[in-house]
Amino acid sequence: MTESDPEELDERLLVLSETELPEGSSPPWPGKAAPGGAVRVRPPAGPEGEPPGAEGEEDEEEPLLGSAASRRVAYAWDKEARLAAGTGRSTEMNLFLDDPEFAEIVLKAEQAIECEVFPERISQGSSGSYFVKDPKGKTIGVFKPKSEEPYGHLNPKWTKYFHKICCPCCFGRGCLVPNQGYLSETGASLVDSKLGLGVVPKTKVVWLVSETFNYSAIDRAKSRGKKYALEKVPTVGKKFNRIGLPPKVGSFQLFVEGYKEADHWLRKFETDPLPENTRKQFQSQFERLVVLDYVTRNTDRGNDNWLVRYEKQCDEMDLSNKDIQWTTDKDPIIKIAAIDNGLAFPFKHPDEWRAYPFHWAWLPQAKVPFSEETRELILPRISDMNFVQDLSEDLYELFKTDKGFDKPTFENQMSVMRGQILNLTQALKDGQSPIQLVQMPRVIVERSHGGSQGRIVHLSNTFTQTFHSRKPFFSSW
Ligand SMILES: Nc1ncnc2c1ncn2[C@@H]1O[C@H](COP(=O)(O)OP(=O)(O)OP(=O)(O)O)[C@@H](O)[C@H]1O
Ligand SMILES: [Mg+2]
Repeated sequence: MTESDPEELDERLLVLSETELPEGSSPPWPGKAAPGGAVRVRPPAGPEGEPPGAEGEEDEEEPLLGSAASRRVAYAWDKEARLAAGTGRSTEMNLFLDDPEFAEIVLKAEQAIECEVFPERISQGSSGSYFVKDPKGKTIGVFKPKSEEPYGHLNPKWTKYFHKICCPCCFGRGCLVPNQGYLSETGASLVDSKLGLGVVPKTKVVWLVSETFNYSAIDRAKSRGKKYALEKVPTVGKKFNRIGLPPKVGSFQLFVEGYKEADHWLRKFETDPLPENTRKQFQSQFERLVVLDYVTRNTDRGNDNWLVRYEKQCDEMDLSNKDIQWTTDKDPIIKIAAIDNGLAFPFKHPDEWRAYPFHWAWLPQAKVPFSEETRELILPRISDMNFVQDLSEDLYELFKTDKGFDKPTFENQMSVMRGQILNLTQALKDGQSPIQLVQMPRVIVERSHGGSQGRIVHLSNTFTQTFHSRKPFFSSW
């Protein structure tokens, strides 16, 4: 396959204008949880989305609820107590009222930390990511704290941070909002569930504290000092609202078992082709991955960032015979998990698009037109403007919780996403394949701010579309 030279491609703009949407994306109903995030019974005192006593905040003058249980102040195990709390204290940090199953898993992670079964840093990778355990030491989640992202100030792989400080003009991916990877992870999970894809392991915003996380020397010293003060002068110590280390906000993704990196299985399937039914199942899963990546415009989908579970089903085992009998009538299980979604939701289409292709586009599966099943699943949703609007409102509720949230930037992220959705709708309607999809001209669909530049065509009365006819990735195979 050859790629066309971007410099040689002509870029034209077609602007289709419409009126502005009603301002304010506040939750349409009171008490709605930020999608993918924790419900706060009462707003915290700190900056939006940041509970009192969180990382980087001063924490004086709040009464202590018992030193050994200091972290329990932030993480009351008893769900009833947490629900009843409603006090505006950090007890509310990890409430998932609409998802008791997820709440239960996070609770286990908190309990494990309390029993000193600490999250373990994943050795590979360019940032601080952690395997989170339950009290028995079983891995149940992957936690990626905001402050330890590649460009977060506490990234343990410090060369990246150094890179940002010394060379600010050329760090990171120029099209992504820096240091919001955990929101991208959570947003991808939100898109996955809204579209009914089922390929992203559930991911939400969670607060955790663990000695094994990377903390500054100052945070550690403060924590030690306070513990010492509490032991020696309890009356003074009781004035601190937190004794332990500050909790970190990050993405918490459920750990999926029995999966291996896609590369591994793709190589195997080349030499040992899948049975027809299983191949179809794999194709359907693959198409869901494509939809996810295209809609969120993931800039980091190498074949190491998605996992595949492939298991032959065994017949009832004859226990006297050590050999497992594989049956031919049961189809093997094949499932895709789209992990590592932290580099999605760009606020503009990547300029250096050669550097961020969707690596799945090179796979033979990408040449097959989208299946009827995928079309039936996706088209009714994405061709409905209300659905798209609803999706961006849910993302707004999630993204606005970040300290660095910037509304215009968010609008730009949504303009890219709506453009991707527009292309995807067309490709699905036309019965195209993933490779044809990635060859489509890039589009952004933005809210009209009146008097926009360029050719203006009224289509309906909601959005402005900017249509780049430059081909984004592949001019030919
Ligand atoms: N939800 C999950 N379930 C099971 N395993 C996972 C999950 N998430 C991550 N892993 C495992 O952890 C490894 C690292 O995860 P991930 O790629 O998300 O981390 P990262 O810190 O962003 O790394 P990198 O920067 O190298 O991409 C993966 O290759 C995979 O083996
Ligand atoms: Mg990775």
